[in-house]
Amino acid sequence: MQNSILQQVKQYKSIFILAPVFMIISGLMETMIPLMTTRIVDYGIEKSDMGEVLRWGGYMLIFAVSALITALIGYVLSAKASSGLAANLREGLFKKVQSFSFSNLDKYGVSGLVVRQTTDISNIQTAAQTILTQFFKTPVAVVYSLILTVQLNKRLSLVLIAGVFLIGIFLSVIIIKSIVMYREVYEDYDALNEHIQENVTGIRVVKSFAREKAVSESFDSKAAAVKKGFIRVERLLAFNNPIMMLSLEFCFIGIAWIGAKFISAGEMSVGDLTGFITYAFQIMTYMAMLVLSFVQLSSSFASVKRVQEVFSEEPSVTFPEDESPEMEDGSVEFSKVSFRYGEGNGENVLEDISLRIKSGEMIGIVGATGSSKTSLVNLISRLYDAKEGQITVGKRDVKEYDEDSLTKNIAVVLQKNLLFSGTIMENLRWGKSDATIKECEEACRFALAESFIKEKEGGLNYYIAQGGSNLSGGQRQRLCLARALIKKPKILILDDALSALDTATEARIRLSLKEDLPDMTKLIITQRVGSVREADRILVLSKGRICGFDTHENLIRDCEVYRELCIAAEGKEAS
Ligand SMILES: Nc1ncnc2c1ncn2[C@@H]1O[C@H](COP(=O)(O)OP(=O)(O)OP(=O)(O)O)[C@@H](O)[C@H]1O
Ligand SMILES: [Mg+2]
Repeated sequence: MQNSILQQVKQYKSIFILAPVFMIISGLMETMIPLMTTRIVDYGIEKSDMGEVLRWGGYMLIFAVSALITALIGYVLSAKASSGLAANLREGLFKKVQSFSFSNLDKYGVSGLVVRQTTDISNIQTAAQTILTQFFKTPVAVVYSLILTVQLNKRLSLVLIAGVFLIGIFLSVIIIKSIVMYREVYEDYDALNEHIQENVTGIRVVKSFAREKAVSESFDSKAAAVKKGFIRVERLLAFNNPIMMLSLEFCFIGIAWIGAKFISAGEMSVGDLTGFITYAFQIMTYMAMLVLSFVQLSSSFASVKRVQEVFSEEPSVTFPEDESPEMEDGSVEFSKVSFRYGEGNGENVLEDISLRIKSGEMIGIVGATGSSKTSLVNLISRLYDAKEGQITVGKRDVKEYDEDSLTKNIAVVLQKNLLFSGTIMENLRWGKSDATIKECEEACRFALAESFIKEKEGGLNYYIAQGGSNLSGGQRQRLCLARALIKKPKILILDDALSALDTATEARIRLSLKEDLPDMTKLIITQRVGSVREADRILVLSKGRICGFDTHENLIRDCEVYRELCIAAEGKEAS
């Protein structure tokens, strides 16, 4: 796994070196051109020698064309290197995110990761292009131009150097100020991005709660902050040009005034003065370019930091490298397990959990909302790792299995189900990539999805829209169940995964799971307490602790929490 932005450059190392080299050569050639002007004036025009004009004119043309060609090569190489870097970064970042566990994902959030993949990488690409084309070339060209002006006339060059120095100080102040301002603008920009991401992704919920006005108002205020910030920076940067021009005019006046004196004293030729003025102009242009590059780079610092942060993130769940043992059966054992979300010393959401589930058992898991039912089952398939204690699956520590072996043998239908754009068949094959049509049909029959699929145009080839939006909630749940069953897992975990089905359909599914798949361990989390009554045993959770694990009859007799849950459920059903 590549863990830094710099490693993504490796593949383009030689282009990253060559591009600035070509740009520097082009810059040096450009700076030679005013020297030719001095020769044309002094040796050609002053002495009315057409031959000299043509000779130096010819050299000038050669330098100009060479500067152009080398610059062109430099630009092409830079474009190749920067877009290659961006492609590598996108790929690297995408792979990195795939290796993340749920707790890594919690840390960044979906929108944070999307912004890094898109806007931030584009910023880095632009910054790389600027560095390669301008960053090395312009300082070298400025210094070389200054050396050439010293050679033309030492004393006059002091005026230019003093001018460059003063402008340099002034521009540095502007650059530093604008970098600070840019950083603030980009923080506001991030907030705006996150807002867009969250509210566009959740637009249906926004609409169903008629929150459009509130969401738009909050968007407006965030967009206004970004606008205000950009105007502030642009206003500061707007000083750049007038100041550069003013300094240039002063430099010209100074150079022309002193130069004219030197010429009348016979200490300087007209050609040298012409060259001098051209150099002054060139140096200022280079400096203006350098300022722009700095400003552009400063806006990408935050992006570099954010992308690097993801690259350096260590996946919080790692799997063993060596060959994974076969999972013997579907037994599960927790021994003194505690768990909390995030790093540090937050509060435990699971406390001292010890339990033993035999292979093939059907277990119902019930408890009030927030009692850590999801947190408990997430530890079995290692979506998160326990902080303390040990979890054993198939008679081995869950940490001994590699990722493939765990996902193959443990199928989880999450509380927040998701289908992907593609046909029904393609979605089912997420469970088993080489599943035959017969296997797909069989899984659908089990999940009672067969009848509605038949009604859809194309059957198993019916196209599911992004997120499964063209299916009903219950149809989505049945397909998610079929996708899990197709793996023929040893352990099946249903996290409130049948909640959108009517009670009769749910009961039929549970019955066929129990009777037709006796070897598969089934863990069924449900809010409908009554629906797991016939499970072999029921685990009752309260505030992250086990307060009962027995059959329905025994729990009704011994477990206060379970009794209350049942009474509440009956009340709900009655009403
Ligand atoms: N990703 C997370 N980051 C931080 N805290 C979390 C996270 N997920 C859940 N929690 C917290 O952990 C506790 C247990 O949540 P969990 O989702 O396990 O409950 P649950 O029993 O499945 O509830 P429900 O019946 O509503 O699905 C809650 O207090 C919740 O706020
Ligand atoms: Mg839950």
